[in-house]
Amino acid sequence: MCGIVGYIGHREAYPVLIKGLQRLEYRGYDSAGIALYDGSEINLSKTKGKVADLKSKAEGEISVQGSLGIGHTRWATHGVPNDVNSHPHYSNSGDLVIIHNGIIENYESLKKALIKRGYTFHSDTDTEVLVNLIEEVQKTENVKLGKAVQIALNQVVGAYAIVVFNKKKPDELVVAKLGSPLAIGIGEEEFFIASDASPFIEFTSNAIYLDDEEMAIVRLGKEVKLRKIKDDAIIYPKVQELQMNIEEIEKGGYDHFMLKEIYEQPKAIKDTYRGRFLANEGIIKMAGMDDYLEKFTQAERIIVVACGTSWHAGLVGEYIFEDLARVPVEVEYASEFRYRNPIINEKDVVIAISQSGETADTLAAIKLAKEKGAFVFGICNVVGSSIARATHAGAYTHAGPEIGVASTKAFTTQITVLALLALKIGESKGNISKVELHQYLSELEAIPTKVEKALEANEHVKYIAGEYKDASNCLYLGRGFNFPVALEGALKLKEISYIHAEGYPAAEMKHGPIALIDEQMPVVVIATRKGHYEKVVSNIQEIKSRKGKIIAVVMEGDKQVKDIADHVLEIPETVECLTPLLTTIPLQLLSYHIAVMRDCNVDQPRNLAKSVTVE
Ligand code: G6P
Repeated sequence: MCGIVGYIGHREAYPVLIKGLQRLEYRGYDSAGIALYDGSEINLSKTKGKVADLKSKAEGEISVQGSLGIGHTRWATHGVPNDVNSHPHYSNSGDLVIIHNGIIENYESLKKALIKRGYTFHSDTDTEVLVNLIEEVQKTENVKLGKAVQIALNQVVGAYAIVVFNKKKPDELVVAKLGSPLAIGIGEEEFFIASDASPFIEFTSNAIYLDDEEMAIVRLGKEVKLRKIKDDAIIYPKVQELQMNIEEIEKGGYDHFMLKEIYEQPKAIKDTYRGRFLANEGIIKMAGMDDYLEKFTQAERIIVVACGTSWHAGLVGEYIFEDLARVPVEVEYASEFRYRNPIINEKDVVIAISQSGETADTLAAIKLAKEKGAFVFGICNVVGSSIARATHAGAYTHAGPEIGVASTKAFTTQITVLALLALKIGESKGNISKVELHQYLSELEAIPTKVEKALEANEHVKYIAGEYKDASNCLYLGRGFNFPVALEGALKLKEISYIHAEGYPAAEMKHGPIALIDEQMPVVVIATRKGHYEKVVSNIQEIKSRKGKIIAVVMEGDKQVKDIADHVLEIPETVECLTPLLTTIPLQLLSYHIAVMRDCNVDQPRNLAKSVTVE
């Protein structure tokens, strides 16, 4: 959580930092702040609220001149989101200034020790403790800033990506990383620091991604020097060429990133499967998996670990794997898995799913599974992310940057990868024939066009959204492959519109939720023709007789549900195991329109963040 950005070079830092912070706002938006060095002083401005609030405040409050500066957008951990707790933070002397993404777990004991030595604190943050610890080390050890940062970080327990500078040495930024991402953009006589490459993509396509436990001194006119924080070992930086382009991270005419990303799904799914199969020949080739096929075919169990929407994709994966690959699957919340003493060994394959590739709980679950000897396969969207690097092997979803906090195209592309894996394993184990494989692959190949068709319902979905925008509660029901889609539909609605929503397996309704049904309660039911259709129709009748309002997602040409439901949304026909790729589309649109009509901040819902790097 939190976005960090820094600049040192020849141009004005302020516009670079503000634009960079706006691009990083998906990481947190409780408060924002900036510190600029104008040639003699540090000018600092910070505020509760968004980067737009910071911009208005800073421009009226400080000189925004200078070609050295740092900025921060916060998702609060220690200390409520207010002006004082916002970053950057000064050290007591006022010479050092820092921004931090992460948590210093032992900050209280460090703070006590610093207070004893005469330090005072203005905020409740762990970050202010860190900057003063660095200052104290610099004073007592009489070392340069880089060394002081290194010594201080060796006393710290927790996670961080930090940028710090000293106004008395304004030709360098010191950066370090453990558990939170940090990239250095290398320009001509200038450097950019950021949580991801989006803040500097228009200035340079060369970047260094720090690994955990690494730090760097970024000095004007010098090459970037990387070191291990623990043992001071020198590391030769690998400069990567960035693939991202500017259009991918802008709204491109859409009102919100979420809507853009919903509409990008046909392309995202195609990009994800492109080059990975030949439908006619029934061949699947996945570079990240082919060398490890035996691990999968011989696995006694597959355990999926993930959080949020990725966990829902994992649940869809469970149904697909059990159906096609005939291997038992357990889907675990990474946060629960990591703190149990899970029974897991070398015969298990763990699949870790994460859009960002940075989710702290998922990372910790991977570490635990590796310690216990399991083979760990990652499904990530962000190339080079921590999870992509921490796993033994993996496959990227090529969805492109997902910026809206509510995940959409990540979900469908994760299911696409899971389907390919299940098909490959199923065929290798002899559970599905070449002919069947060919049929499934042809269906998969047709999905992008069918998603486009499903998107044509947008205006109708908008009309339905208008009817139910004032509901206080909403139920989502589905069965089989579409039970996880019901969960995901409910999550989308609650996270962006703040309407309370629950997803349930349709048949479980009579064990509790049916008590909630009255004429005020909209119930979204997924009723695909092959997915226990008759049973779902009975569930719909049960809702109807209790006066609930039914919004049904059905397959084209459906007649039976049409007669009973208040509204129907049609999706094109496909094989049952791939229906989640289509049924989820109207549900994404429904939550989007309801949230817009309720005047909610669709892309940045309250209290949430896109990348959860704290546990
Ligand atoms: C946050 C995001 C969700 C996401 C979840 C897991 O809660 O708001 O959209 O599904 O984290 O993130 P990951 O990057 O691991 O998929």
